[in-house]
Amino acid sequence: MEKLTYLPITLFLLLTISASSSSSAETPQTPQSVYEVFIQCLKQHTTNSSPTQLKNIVFSQTNVLFTSVLQNYIRNARFNTTSATKPLIIVTPLQESHVQGAVICAKNMSIQIKIRSGGHDYEGISYISKEPFILLDLFNLRNISVDMKQETAVVQAGAVLGEVYYKIWENSKVHGFPGGVCHSVGIGGTITGGGYGNLLRKYGLSVDRVIDAQIVDSQGRLLDRKSMGGDLFWAIRGGGGSSFGVVLSYTVKLVSVPETVTIFRVMKTLEENATDLVMQWQQVAPTTDDRLFMRLLLQPRNNTILVSVVALFLGGADEVVSIMEKEFPLLGLKKEDCNETSWIGSVIWWDNDQAFKNGAKPETLLDRNLNSARFLKRKSDYVQKPISKNDLELIWKKMIELRNIGLAFNPYGGKMANISSDATPFPHRAGNLFKVQYSVTWDDPSDFAAQNYTNEAKSLYSFMTPFVSQNPRSAFLNYRDLDIGINHFGNNSFEEGKVYGLKYFNNNFDRLVKIKTAVDPNNYFRNKQSIPVKM
Ligand SMILES: Cc1cc2nc3c(=O)[nH]c(=O)nc-3n(C[C@H](O)[C@H](O)[C@H](O)COP(=O)(O)OP(=O)(O)OC[C@H]3O[C@@H](n4cnc5c(N)ncnc54)[C@H](O)[C@@H]3O)c2cc1C
Ligand SMILES: *[C@@H]1O[C@H](CO)[C@@H](O)[C@H](O)[C@H]1NC(C)=O
Ligand SMILES: *[C@@H]1O[C@H](CO)[C@@H](O)[C@H](O)[C@H]1NC(C)=O
Ligand SMILES: *[C@@H]1O[C@H](CO)[C@@H](O)[C@H](O)[C@H]1NC(C)=O
Ligand SMILES: *[C@@H]1O[C@H](CO)[C@@H](O)[C@H](O)[C@H]1NC(C)=O
Ligand SMILES: *[C@@H]1O[C@H](CO)[C@@H](O)[C@H](O)[C@H]1NC(C)=O
Ligand SMILES: *[C@@H]1O[C@H](CO)[C@@H](O)[C@H](O)[C@H]1NC(C)=O
Ligand SMILES: *[C@@H]1O[C@H](CO)[C@@H](O)[C@H](O)[C@H]1NC(C)=O
Ligand SMILES: *[C@@H]1O[C@H](CO)[C@@H](O)[C@H](O)[C@H]1NC(C)=O
Ligand SMILES: *[C@@H]1O[C@H](CO)[C@@H](O)[C@H](O)[C@H]1NC(C)=O
Repeated sequence: MEKLTYLPITLFLLLTISASSSSSAETPQTPQSVYEVFIQCLKQHTTNSSPTQLKNIVFSQTNVLFTSVLQNYIRNARFNTTSATKPLIIVTPLQESHVQGAVICAKNMSIQIKIRSGGHDYEGISYISKEPFILLDLFNLRNISVDMKQETAVVQAGAVLGEVYYKIWENSKVHGFPGGVCHSVGIGGTITGGGYGNLLRKYGLSVDRVIDAQIVDSQGRLLDRKSMGGDLFWAIRGGGGSSFGVVLSYTVKLVSVPETVTIFRVMKTLEENATDLVMQWQQVAPTTDDRLFMRLLLQPRNNTILVSVVALFLGGADEVVSIMEKEFPLLGLKKEDCNETSWIGSVIWWDNDQAFKNGAKPETLLDRNLNSARFLKRKSDYVQKPISKNDLELIWKKMIELRNIGLAFNPYGGKMANISSDATPFPHRAGNLFKVQYSVTWDDPSDFAAQNYTNEAKSLYSFMTPFVSQNPRSAFLNYRDLDIGINHFGNNSFEEGKVYGLKYFNNNFDRLVKIKTAVDPNNYFRNKQSIPVKM
């Protein structure tokens, strides 16, 4: 009971100190003095590191490499601006104790840290904050070790998906891992947020294959599954890492894939009866063979909609063609539309990156493609009842009018419907036919363009209201979207947190709040959409 009155006061003091840096003797005042104090502190809190090594992993704003280190993992050009608040310093740990030291020292200085692994957060919250902050960039912590006897891999947070897929392929041609399709996405963000890709109907999400993890908590302790306990281990499999600590690695169970898989893409416009195709897709894609994942892409093109069915089948071309003839005749799939390849071949084919033309080598997956990004806005929804033909036609009309915003429908069912909605914080399981991604990408750097394109996303999202999940209107954490609600200062507010929290986590939100309150009662790890503390 004592905690109830005591903790909010501590919280208040902590925030007052960090908000008004000039009034506290303990809080250094300039980026340069933060650098000096931090380096001194880090020396005391790390072992096996020479002073030179520590200097090499901490970048002050005056360091000539500061800007490129900052920009390397900006993956949305909207946040590559001089007006975005820069970190006071950037820390790039090489070993576990550097992370522990960084948390202890930053916390001691009452300065927030932002944790970045691959930098793909759609709203840039891994490297942007209104409050002064230290950027903890984990790109050096990227070891991957595959154990074929156990069929597991230990993957550090700073590794990216392409490296994980490559390492698995080096060890086995009949193993894979169910994760995202874009090779440069970081493990630290994608697994803490759920992680899905084209194996989800057969094997579920990335988090469904996690068997252990290492995390540094708000007290700087290095914990594994056993020492962190069941609650925290549950929370970091979909609840978002940055509310709970710094995830250093995940141990994941690999999955089997056949030596030969099949990929295909079929495209039709409205003039080619694409609306009927979409109607049938809604029936088939979430219910068909678990080995088949058929993403639907809907893109406005002049006065029509281009509909593409992009697919992975864990089996041969003849088999998938015969399944489609029976279940999805309107697709009109022929063997000539299909290519048989290896699983790693399918990974390369599915990647959206320009470098991944037909015939690209697996080594392409290792290219981190630093410091390059386009302007993006994404949003998400879940569809639980098929959309009627009439309503689809209204959606097409709206999209053609807006001109730039596209949709991707990602079918669920299969394994997704076989995992209970509270097995992990990710709640969107049985009962969901498909997830919708709203997607608009542009190259014009003007504010005007950003307004225009983000407004298109908002406008279509609003138009879709009657066709998608309600109470709550669910959303996918990995498609971070600050429009659906924010915690304005990150300090208080359970009520604010509940707005986005229920959308991302549905009934799992309450458990996440309890765990957050237990493991980080002072709300040290916070951001605009972190899990709030409730006393
Ligand atoms: C081009 C592109 C394609 C994508 N494709 C897919 C896809 O196919 N499937 C899918 O599921 N998602 C996809 N995503 C979304 C992606 O999974 C999320 O953006 C994910 O959070 C990115 O992880 P990251 O480490 O790259 O990002 P970051 O920006 O580094 O981190 C994202 C969030 O996680 C936190 N975080 C990062 N590392 C850690 C850590 N080690 N410990 C604790 N918290 C941490 C950050 O603080 C931030 O809040 C895609 C995103 C992009 C930009
Ligand atoms: C990563 O692997 C290398 C080579 O095996 C090793 O020297 C290094 O200590 C590892 N780093 C971490 C942080 O585990
Ligand atoms: C920071 O560390 C110093 C030296 O160890 C200690 O005296 C001080 O109380 C710490 N401050 C906070 C806010 O933890
Ligand atoms: C299949 O491979 C051929 C030859 O590389 C290529 O021309 C064709 O576009 C591929 N089809 C698909 C669906 O990828
Ligand atoms: C579209 O459907 C109509 C009516 O079923 C049919 O007559 C027409 O041939 C179809 N068009 C195409 C291009 O398949
Ligand atoms: C739209 O039509 C014009 C003129 O026919 C053509 O040049 C352009 O490529 C088309 N745009 C798209 C996105 O298809
Ligand atoms: C950021 O902007 C700079 C120019 O100011 C450019 O050189 C760099 O490539 C951009 N990086 C990203 C990730 O957009
Ligand atoms: C899901 O559960 C049903 C019924 O238990 C079972 O028949 C089916 O094979 C399961 N599918 C997957 C992908 O586990
Ligand atoms: C938005 O961009 C499109 C071009 O894609 C343009 O036609 C339209 O006029 C723009 N709208 C606004 C409000 O700027
Ligand atoms: C949160 O912080 C803001 C800005 O510092 C302050 O105005 C607000 O009162 C705080 N809310 C709570 C509940 O502490």
